[in-house]
Amino acid sequence: MTRPRLSALALMAMCLGMASLARTTQAAPPKPVATDSQGIQKMNFGKLADGTPIELYTLTNGKITAKITTYGGIVTELHTPDRDGKTADIVLGFDSLEGYLAGHPYFGAITGRFANRIAKGKFSIDGKEYSLAVNNGPNSLHGGLKGFDKQVWKAEETTVDGSPALKLSRISPDGEEGYPGNLSVTVTYSITPENALKIDYTATTDKPTVLNLTNHSYFNLSGPASGTILDHELTLAADQYTLVDENFIPTGKLGSVTGTPVDFTKAKAIGAHIGQIAGEPGGYDHNFVVRGAEAGSKKPIFTAKVKDPKSGRTMTVLTTEPGVQFYTGNFLDGTVKGKGGVVYKKNQAFCLETQHYPDSPNHADFPTTRLNPGQTYTQTTVYQFGVE
Ligand code: GLA
Repeated sequence: MTRPRLSALALMAMCLGMASLARTTQAAPPKPVATDSQGIQKMNFGKLADGTPIELYTLTNGKITAKITTYGGIVTELHTPDRDGKTADIVLGFDSLEGYLAGHPYFGAITGRFANRIAKGKFSIDGKEYSLAVNNGPNSLHGGLKGFDKQVWKAEETTVDGSPALKLSRISPDGEEGYPGNLSVTVTYSITPENALKIDYTATTDKPTVLNLTNHSYFNLSGPASGTILDHELTLAADQYTLVDENFIPTGKLGSVTGTPVDFTKAKAIGAHIGQIAGEPGGYDHNFVVRGAEAGSKKPIFTAKVKDPKSGRTMTVLTTEPGVQFYTGNFLDGTVKGKGGVVYKKNQAFCLETQHYPDSPNHADFPTTRLNPGQTYTQTTVYQFGVE
């Protein structure tokens, strides 16, 4: 199968979301980006301290453009058009690798082996207890000290259903961050003709283990320099959520969203009831139970829709996962300076982390996160962009 490649100039012009670059370097009038131009391109993104080279891939279908680095599988940029066709980058991140290496709250990253928290960093499989690094209060968060977000992934240019795609893979060795089993993982990013960023995950293991993968992109559909996301309207296909203790660990009980500030069954501004969320730091940081999720299903189902009234951008999320962590960037406290020198403040972005429920290995009645030898873990999540 042949994959059309884009010229560097065309790609750059597209990433900047305008034809102005073409305009300044050629006398020709600005050309709209051809809707049929799709492709993938590789660039250098710098080196780790030990000299390991890091790449940045640009994937586009001519309308939606994503940049993804082999460091942490991070989606560094995601350009989508607004209702006037003007393109903007709608995810938080940094202009260069150094920003990511300096430490950050999982911007755009592949999160694993276990997304979200495991209580006290402990779980058992078949009577054997495993201990993980405790890196979030008394708990283990997002895979530990050097989770998948800080690993270098092997990259392969490929296609998914004819669309340009980037397949990232790595073997997570037995015992990495305390988790059992040699785990072979792939994460494939593609941009579909329907203007979606689609992420397909697979994994196999040689020992029983636990696994919970997600992507931790922080979205602001007006563009991250534009203030908070409190005016964005959210709909969640969720009637229940997991109740948690003061350390964000599920009690095991599910709560009904009805009549509470976490009811997003009908479109509602994210900021409408956010002030009613008790505790510190306040804001949404809840795992919702996806309505209609079926164990083992390979068909992503409607999970969430976000609309930005200012730009008209919409993002619809479909997933095969039973849960989605809705997080409103509550821990962004103005200490991180991101792209273009923009200081990221509380509620400047939201995350919809499609995943299994937090602390599942310690809750036998939650959908299982156990993976056995001979089984293949799969997860598919689609972030589809539109305008209204
Ligand atoms: C997840 C968690 C949050 C926070 C962020 C990263 O969304 O649920 O509590 O830890 O990751 O900062």
